[in-house]
Amino acid sequence: MKTIVFETPGKPADILQTVERPLPEPGPGEVRIKVIASPINPSDVMFVQNLYGIRPQYPSPAGFEGVGIIDALGEGVGMKTGTRVSFTGVGAWSEYAIANHRALIPVPDAMTDDVAAQLFVNPFTVFAMVEESGVKPGEGWLMLTACGSAFGKMAIQLCKQKGIQTIGTVRRDDLNNDLKALGLNEVINTETENMVARVKEITGGKGVSCVLDAVGGHTASEALKCLGKGGTMLIFGLLSLQDPTINVGLVIFRELTIRGFWLTDWMRRVDSKTRQEVAQNVISSLASGQIQLPVEASYNLDQIAEAVKHSERHGRWGKILVKP
Ligand SMILES: NC(=O)c1ccc[n+]([C@@H]2O[C@H](COP(=O)([O-])OP(=O)(O)OC[C@H]3O[C@@H](n4cnc5c(N)ncnc54)[C@H](OP(=O)(O)O)[C@@H]3O)[C@@H](O)[C@H]2O)c1
Repeated sequence: MKTIVFETPGKPADILQTVERPLPEPGPGEVRIKVIASPINPSDVMFVQNLYGIRPQYPSPAGFEGVGIIDALGEGVGMKTGTRVSFTGVGAWSEYAIANHRALIPVPDAMTDDVAAQLFVNPFTVFAMVEESGVKPGEGWLMLTACGSAFGKMAIQLCKQKGIQTIGTVRRDDLNNDLKALGLNEVINTETENMVARVKEITGGKGVSCVLDAVGGHTASEALKCLGKGGTMLIFGLLSLQDPTINVGLVIFRELTIRGFWLTDWMRRVDSKTRQEVAQNVISSLASGQIQLPVEASYNLDQIAEAVKHSERHGRWGKILVKP
């Protein structure tokens, strides 16, 4: 089978290789999946650069999620071959992948492959974080940095459904009208506007209740100043690769909370009822098309360098998928 591997950390376009490997056999509790599609997410790119929360074992496979058809069952797995499933596990950028049966979600017929390929990483994070933000409909504001990301676009749509008011930051204005059309209430360009002054104006001086930050660096430092009394910043990404500067005076005298969020830990931390509720909400919102996850382009495994370069292009509206 054809698969993607890398033997050293580095720039994905330079080091990812398309190679032939024997078909893998599922172990106890595992299934083999014939992969249909898999997205290129920032976490995949960070993993290839050895900047992620789990470390590659070289030569390492790549790609953390996807959709495919169960093709073989390991010992003790009570599922049927032929079932279309969304899955997580290292090695999704491949013709065949191995996944634990607990990391599978059977996909309803109404859901397209392009959506099912992206079912775990961003949607689960969005639903979990909007809940953890504690922002209630009609009360306060939720601020999203890099709101043109797949996460941001989805969070905007979910907040609109729930009646939660959103302020989003961008670094270019090209997508502002589209983001507003999704339901974003206010947009701030971090390159051309004073974020703190704009938030003060929008919120009548109160500040926002919660910031979901994926950028870090100067954007996160400024976003912290936008929090009102008792506000919370949930940090879940570091797109700028720069640590923010924390104004400790603000943290003390506004009694702010700064906390990290990692989906992998959230899945372990919450009880199975919460996980199931989130899964049901994600599946029904995506299968019904109430929340959209656009795709900009698809590439095959031989085009992996082109695919990762496209995923790093500015002003993208949709995800880049790898389709073996
Ligand atoms: N902690 C978790 O469990 C978890 C789970 C899911 C996602 N995430 C994180 O969520 C973030 C978004 O993921 P995604 O899949 O939604 O991303 P995505 O669709 O690939 O979009 C990336 C977006 O970030 C913007 N961006 C990139 N670098 C930036 C910078 N230095 N400053 C400001 N904006 C920047 C891009 O804007 P331009 O068009 O201007 O380049 C683009 O809009 C990532 O950091 C990812 O790691 C974390």
